[in-house]
Amino acid sequence: MSVTVLVGSQWGDEGKGKIVDILSENFEIVTRYQGGANAGHTVRIGDKQYILHLIPSGILRENVICVIGNGVVIDPVALLDEIKLLEQNNIKVDGRLFISHNAHLIMPYHKLLDSISESGDNKIGTTGRGIGPCYIDKYARKGIKIVDLLNRKVLEEKIRENLKEKNNLLKKVYEHEELDVEEIIKQYVEFDKAIDKYIKDVPAYLNTAIAEGKSILLEGAQGALLDVDHGTYPYVTSSSPTSGGACTGSGIPPNKIDSVVGIVKAYTTRVGYGPFPTELLDDEGEKLRKIGVEYGATTGRPRRCGWFDAFLVNYSAMINGINSVAVTKLDVLSNFEEIKVCIGYELDGKQLKSFPTDVERLSKVKPIYETLKGWNKDISECHSYSELPEATKDYLKFIENKAGINIKIISIGPKRQQTFYK
Ligand code: GDP
Ligand code: IMO
Ligand code: MG
Repeated sequence: MSVTVLVGSQWGDEGKGKIVDILSENFEIVTRYQGGANAGHTVRIGDKQYILHLIPSGILRENVICVIGNGVVIDPVALLDEIKLLEQNNIKVDGRLFISHNAHLIMPYHKLLDSISESGDNKIGTTGRGIGPCYIDKYARKGIKIVDLLNRKVLEEKIRENLKEKNNLLKKVYEHEELDVEEIIKQYVEFDKAIDKYIKDVPAYLNTAIAEGKSILLEGAQGALLDVDHGTYPYVTSSSPTSGGACTGSGIPPNKIDSVVGIVKAYTTRVGYGPFPTELLDDEGEKLRKIGVEYGATTGRPRRCGWFDAFLVNYSAMINGINSVAVTKLDVLSNFEEIKVCIGYELDGKQLKSFPTDVERLSKVKPIYETLKGWNKDISECHSYSELPEATKDYLKFIENKAGINIKIISIGPKRQQTFYK
């Protein structure tokens, strides 16, 4: 497991933060490879809860070095707030955090354009963190990178050039007031002073570490079904959370990846718009939300809740090449008499052979369910797989079999000690 990718295998919020924290006890380096401050990764240590947006969740283990790869889009305001918060909690960041010189910067106009586009008719339900507009500029080859901060002249030129276009757009298309270019230049020059010490040639650093036999955990944000290529487009994020993204987003080549760990929640949640076949719009959905405290870690929005979708996870396992799985929030299902699992979809009277990512078809499918007996017992104090009730083991075996996954880690609560290996 020396170079391992950890991926969210549903629509995000599977409990990646908690599992990264558990696994990073045995890793030397933890690296984020995509997304930005749209992520909200929760780690509970004792009575303290940390929500990490940009900095890898490994920061909470003092011997771990944390790296933000080129695939991540960095909001300076969010980054500095996060560093401050960690330092206030006596968590050392200096010397333990490195940021790729090739990562792109989120600019104030990205956040503004995100919120403007979400106020129109075609809403995605984004987190409002400027993610989409920043990746648009990256792929349009207009983006401003971390490395640009190092050259004041280049930085100013790029900001001025971008602002010319963005202010035109804001004024003429959106009838919005223009942004002050001098103010933005000042802000980003200040940012350079604050983060200069963290900037690194990350591909060189990571590949040297691998050559020296060091272990690296690549921490995915979001989830496979939010992947811009393999997710439920257009209701996705603008990056590649799937395991393939770990290579392009960090500079680690595919033949250096040893293993892929998928994180699945014992049921399903989704935030924002888009089809969700097993969504429960009734009292049972409300019960899952209440017991699972299903509210967004970044935006506080209530998460949509539904039964475990084995057909979806099977697709996710294929796309990501998942070797082993951590199941989280199993404790949340303890109060259900019966638990349903979706094992396939029916469309126009026929059972589908493969998962349809196109939203037209996905929004029309009828889930095929199998109903399992609940265990009606608190499992949050169990210490091992053998202590779990038989019905809980049957549930795990069932989802393992139907989703074609290999469950290795089981999480039965937000705390570190509420985790065991199978
Ligand atoms: P991430 O984005 O994948 O890191 O997940 P989030 O942090 O957004 O959401 C997961 C939530 O579930 C957090 O509040 C965690 O503290 C919590 N959590 C993680 N694992 C478990 C578990 O096994 N049981 C319960 N009840 N809560 C958990
Ligand atoms: P973590 O890493 C759950 C969702 C948003 C929206 C869509 C696009 O905590 O699992 P964006 O702001 O990325 O342009 O929004 O993606 N989304 C997430 N949902 N967990 C996340 O991150 C998410 N990050 C983005 O709700 O539907
Ligand atoms: Mg989250």
